[in-house]
Amino acid sequence: MVKESTQQSTSPTIDYLLFYVNGKKIIEHHVEPDWTLLWYLKNKLNLTGSKLGCGEGGCGACTVLISQCLNRHSDELEHRTVNACLAPICSVDGCHIITIEGLGSVAKSNLHPAQSRLAEMFGSQCGFCTPGIVMSLYATVTSSNHSNPSSSSLTIQDIEEAFDGNLCRCTGYRPILDAAKTFAKDIHKLPSKDSSITKPVSTTLDKCLSFVKHTDKEIKKIEFPQELRHHIPQSIYIKGSFVEWYRPITLNELLHLRSTYPGSASKLVFGNTEVQIETKFKRLKYPRFISVTHIEELQQFTRTQTLLILGAGVTLTCLQGRLTEWNDKKLDGGICQALIDQLKYFASTQIRNVASLGGNIVNASPISDVNPVLQAADAVLELHRADTNSIRFVPLRDFFLAYRRVAMTDDEVLVSIHIPLPTSTTTNKTFIHSYKQARRRDDDIGIVSAGLCVQLESINTTTDKQQWRIVCARFSFGGMGPTTILAKNTQQELIGQTWSRTTITKACELALKEMPLDELTPGGQPEYRRTLVQSFLFKFYVYVCSELHQLSVDPKELSAAHSYHRAVSHGQQIIPERPNSQKIVGTSLPHRSAYLQTTGEAKYTDDMPSLPNTLYAAFVLATQPNARIKSIDLGAASKVPGFVTFVNHNDIKGNNMTGDIVHDEEVFVSSITPCVGSIIGVVLCETERASYAAAHLVQIEYELLTPTIFTIDDAIEHQSFLDNERCLQQGDIEKGFSEAENILEGTILIGGQEHFYLETNCCMAIPSNDDYELTLYSSTQNPSKTQELTALALGCDVNHVVCHVKRMGGGFGGKESRSITPTIAIAVAAVKVGRPVRMNIERDVDMCVTGQRHPFKIKYKVGFTNEGQFKALDVYLWSNAGCSFDLSMPVLERAMLHIDNTYRFPNIRVRGRLCKTHLPSNTAFRGFGGPQGLFGCETIIDHVARHLKLDALVIRRLNMYKEGDLTHFSQPLERWNIPRLMDELVESSDFLQRQKTVEEFNKLNTYRKRGIAILPTKFGIAFTAKFLNQAAALVHVYKDGSVLISHGGTEMGQGLHTKMISVAAEVLGCNVNRVRISETATDKVANTSPTAASASSDLNGMAIRIACEQIRERLNKLVSGDDIHLPWESLVKKAYFSRIDLCAHGFYATPEPLGADFSQNRASFNYFTQGTAAAEVELDTLTGDWHILRVDIFMDVGTSLNPQIDIGQIEGAFIQGVGLFTMEELIWGDHKQYKWTKPGALFTRGPGTYKIPSFNDVPIDMRVELLSNAPNPLAIYSSKAIGEPPLFLGAVVFFALKNACMAYREQQGYSEYFPFNSPATVERLRMACTDEFTQRACIDKHEIFQARGSY
Ligand SMILES: Cc1cc2nc3c(=O)[nH]c(=O)nc-3n(C[C@H](O)[C@H](O)[C@H](O)COP(=O)(O)OP(=O)(O)OC[C@H]3O[C@@H](n4cnc5c(N)ncnc54)[C@H](O)[C@@H]3O)c2cc1C
Ligand code: FES
Ligand code: FES
Repeated sequence: MVKESTQQSTSPTIDYLLFYVNGKKIIEHHVEPDWTLLWYLKNKLNLTGSKLGCGEGGCGACTVLISQCLNRHSDELEHRTVNACLAPICSVDGCHIITIEGLGSVAKSNLHPAQSRLAEMFGSQCGFCTPGIVMSLYATVTSSNHSNPSSSSLTIQDIEEAFDGNLCRCTGYRPILDAAKTFAKDIHKLPSKDSSITKPVSTTLDKCLSFVKHTDKEIKKIEFPQELRHHIPQSIYIKGSFVEWYRPITLNELLHLRSTYPGSASKLVFGNTEVQIETKFKRLKYPRFISVTHIEELQQFTRTQTLLILGAGVTLTCLQGRLTEWNDKKLDGGICQALIDQLKYFASTQIRNVASLGGNIVNASPISDVNPVLQAADAVLELHRADTNSIRFVPLRDFFLAYRRVAMTDDEVLVSIHIPLPTSTTTNKTFIHSYKQARRRDDDIGIVSAGLCVQLESINTTTDKQQWRIVCARFSFGGMGPTTILAKNTQQELIGQTWSRTTITKACELALKEMPLDELTPGGQPEYRRTLVQSFLFKFYVYVCSELHQLSVDPKELSAAHSYHRAVSHGQQIIPERPNSQKIVGTSLPHRSAYLQTTGEAKYTDDMPSLPNTLYAAFVLATQPNARIKSIDLGAASKVPGFVTFVNHNDIKGNNMTGDIVHDEEVFVSSITPCVGSIIGVVLCETERASYAAAHLVQIEYELLTPTIFTIDDAIEHQSFLDNERCLQQGDIEKGFSEAENILEGTILIGGQEHFYLETNCCMAIPSNDDYELTLYSSTQNPSKTQELTALALGCDVNHVVCHVKRMGGGFGGKESRSITPTIAIAVAAVKVGRPVRMNIERDVDMCVTGQRHPFKIKYKVGFTNEGQFKALDVYLWSNAGCSFDLSMPVLERAMLHIDNTYRFPNIRVRGRLCKTHLPSNTAFRGFGGPQGLFGCETIIDHVARHLKLDALVIRRLNMYKEGDLTHFSQPLERWNIPRLMDELVESSDFLQRQKTVEEFNKLNTYRKRGIAILPTKFGIAFTAKFLNQAAALVHVYKDGSVLISHGGTEMGQGLHTKMISVAAEVLGCNVNRVRISETATDKVANTSPTAASASSDLNGMAIRIACEQIRERLNKLVSGDDIHLPWESLVKKAYFSRIDLCAHGFYATPEPLGADFSQNRASFNYFTQGTAAAEVELDTLTGDWHILRVDIFMDVGTSLNPQIDIGQIEGAFIQGVGLFTMEELIWGDHKQYKWTKPGALFTRGPGTYKIPSFNDVPIDMRVELLSNAPNPLAIYSSKAIGEPPLFLGAVVFFALKNACMAYREQQGYSEYFPFNSPATVERLRMACTDEFTQRACIDKHEIFQARGSY
């Protein structure tokens, strides 16, 4: 931060801000201190490139770069990326802000290489994360000083760690990392292609090298404004409408303010990373902020021989830098390294760039990562106060009094932290180490964190073996109570004991006694947390022993001493040649909007400017499940300035009942709330801020009803179901079981999954009194259904409503049906007031309201021979549908239709039931039930294999369908490529040899286990509802030769429009750049099916082809003689003057047989997309932490329409599947599993608590190959649908992890089968790694302990 501060407290105080945005000077006199920088950029400067993905610093979509002069005499500049959604606008005084708009623009043809490379290397799909990612990349490149690889100081390792604050839900990250690595100086360290591969391979290295060849020029940096180099910070006082902002520049001034406004009269703020969460999500109100960013004394770094003094106002990034400089175990006993280790996985780069050490300490979070290390180091806090000018030193061990309560008086300021340095001699040594285990490595708060320190003295023994006695111990833990806790009793008991395994076992036992947790402990996971405490103590023991070179440590245990070092990731792709007959289709055209997305110029619904008179809506949502609304009190809400009206079910002119298939839910709750989050009403206000404020002031009184049902088991107990049981049967299962030599039974659970599209639901409704028209702009995959159901609620004909969709920032099924009800509510509100109304649903609300993937419970009985040949399968699937039908029945049906995966069960009965619960309605999610059914099937394979002590691959191969076999729904398998895919993948991934290597590794390592697995998948393509398999398109060729296409599909990043454009250009014979798609709109193409079921390219591609063929046929009639070479534009002109129709409509219906009829045990898909994957993982069995070492995916996409886009879909779906099966866990409050959170309420409602895979989870070696010579005559240009099928392949990581876990269990003497529920979270993995630690942590039998879950 700014170091220079010579001003006294008498310095003049200014009431405005001076800053630059993208080189443009701004002097702002009219700011509200509670505006965030993001809000200001979007609403005051109309810079819509930076995106709002979460508003809580967890996704990075809002990332901007802030540059500042640190010292005007030395010209030293500091560049840091920040989350604009957290940064207060008042914090940017004296700064230069660079947003995505400042880098380059398509309109100006001046793209920055960070933008163009990301676009050209397929690093942007839906594009909503892209501006934030470009900014992180730009900052990384800029701060390395050079952007040309030949002179850059940037390494591939730097790149690997540069995006820890950015999330992408579409790409799977590999292409982004590839593009970013083009800027690294040491790209030659990337692995080159394996010489044994004879096919055309493209690797990360090849890609990077090709850019090096193209770019020798220095890449221009955006200049820092001269004026700001001479900027002298002054005291600031800004009086806003609700809040005041002070920025003192001297300590005296700060202390004076603090004593004038003590306690809750003011709030100190540094990085605002915690305070913003408090004000936004906990709705705490502070009348006055005092910014402490410009106080010199708070920014000191001092090292003496005995002490480190760290200013409370140093940012964590600066701290990391300084600690790295200082790091010397001999001098500091390891304290610097312990802090560095903890900061590596502390939040994200963007957060560390602004968050302060003091903020973390005073915030007193029980799960702080830094406080345990500081406590273990015996740090002391220096607190200052104004009135007496007194300075107090408080040991950190006495600082935390209770939950978020600290020993600091109302008017004190934390100035610095003093850390004593230990003295080590040959006979007296001190060791300190830090530990953290979170749900995800990147940007996640620890579940348990620890700082462990011991001082040992050497004991003279008669033997040669040197022994050590404990002189002092400090064991501090986060996540084990309401504050950071020192295990004081444990420490005390250890003094005088020898440093041995027996002592550490005793420490584990004592620590557990001292830190008991029960099932009501907030955050849950008591058994896991109790296990982690012991794991950390044990790791520390091994670490200290290894440092002491103690021979007592078994070499097999040494891996417990050190944390895993993650190698640099890389990828490779193998793409078959494009057929010669095609000129454009089959080429890897970049995503059509990629450049616009990388420049932030691509517009999403929320980026559209507001029309005059627009009102802002906010939902009033039910806070109780299954409750009768007794009263609604608008008193306080209506007093909010700007309040206009409240809209509820009384305002519905048409039908309040709605729903995608069955109209069984209400737009606005009229009496009984079906779940927490159901919409009771909408508040309309003149501003967005007022609408949120007013919505929260609406008071609702409820009468609670019983029973409340949340889980599948609750529903079964109460017989709470939707519709009847579904059944599918083939053969004779009784006979099959009688012939089986073995019968196994089991139950498996798979949890739900949040879509986490980066763009939340958003809509705008514009009514017009001119013929009662209503125009909707909505982020939906289903414009026609939105139009129809809105008309139903309004009580008007469908032709009065038009729904437009330009693009979505991701959908994944989450915007197929659940986007509709919020849009209807907004439409009703707009029509009521006759004014435009808009709403962007906040992330936490979106997650609570719009439903997720269905959790499933699958119970099976399988009969098989001693060789593993299946004889019979009887399986029952229950899904948690939530409170209404929505799409639950087709989701369940697809799960039932995919229960066979790629195997033949000669006698089979599959039954399924929808459980009705008091949760928001669960809905479509990429795979649409398929992954749940497939997971059930592969669990059965695994169970059978373990029972017979055979390799699962043997069972898979033995039961694999053959060409022409009938599925359990009587569809013959044609062009059956699975056996080939499996055989070739086993070969190309060297699977069998690697299995042996894994075994060897496991023998040599006790606490690290590797696992390897291979899986096939088949996925049926077509909607099971036959009528949806239709599409239409409208093609206009204009006189200048340009072409405009409208079709029924929506673009959500999957590259649909790009593929459609290439189909049109191929058929018409024109340049692809002449073809455009503007938007999807119901007044261009009517009665469209949702963009879903992976079928949109198939359906819309055919419709476009049919339309284009008509035009081409008409044009062909004009081509004769010399005209044969007539350029496209001339031909079009000639056609126009010949009065030939240059427009056409195309319609396509997928040929029969098609659709599912369960009453006849039959279903027909158009075809199956097929694929296989192998994965190898490494698991830390003491913590549950893991990495994917290598993944090989081999996919049959027919003859690809666009290979790179298809690979993007494969990798993106795969990583989303990895998320589903490993780390994404929804936690709902209920009566049994999660009693510590409110029943029926979602705890995991944002990126802070719900973890999707991040950059750090990318496989270190990621290989994808597309199958050659596998044309598919049943789809457009012989291609295959690809959106959903690869998602299930992510389960291969689950099974590899399960194998690793089983290897540990076997080593511990537990070799019997263990049912392992999904997702394989760090908790579930660790607790399945049964050992002495889990035994001490569990009350019940630890060998069968199953971590809790919401199912
Ligand atoms: C996305 C995200 C991820 C995070 N990840 C982690 C994580 O991995 N580990 C972790 O431990 N924390 C994490 N946090 C919490 C938070 O970032 C840290 O606590 C951070 O260090 C707070 O610093 P700040 O400067 O932003 O504090 P602020 O929000 O500015 O202030 C926090 C508190 O400290 C007080 N305060 C600040 N400075 C002083 C001072 N000098 N004297 C007295 N009081 C003061 C403020 O009044 C306030 O009460 C995360 C937060 C977010 C939003
Ligand atoms: S919107 Fe700022 S981090 Fe998500
Ligand atoms: S492209 Fe990253 S979230 Fe869609």
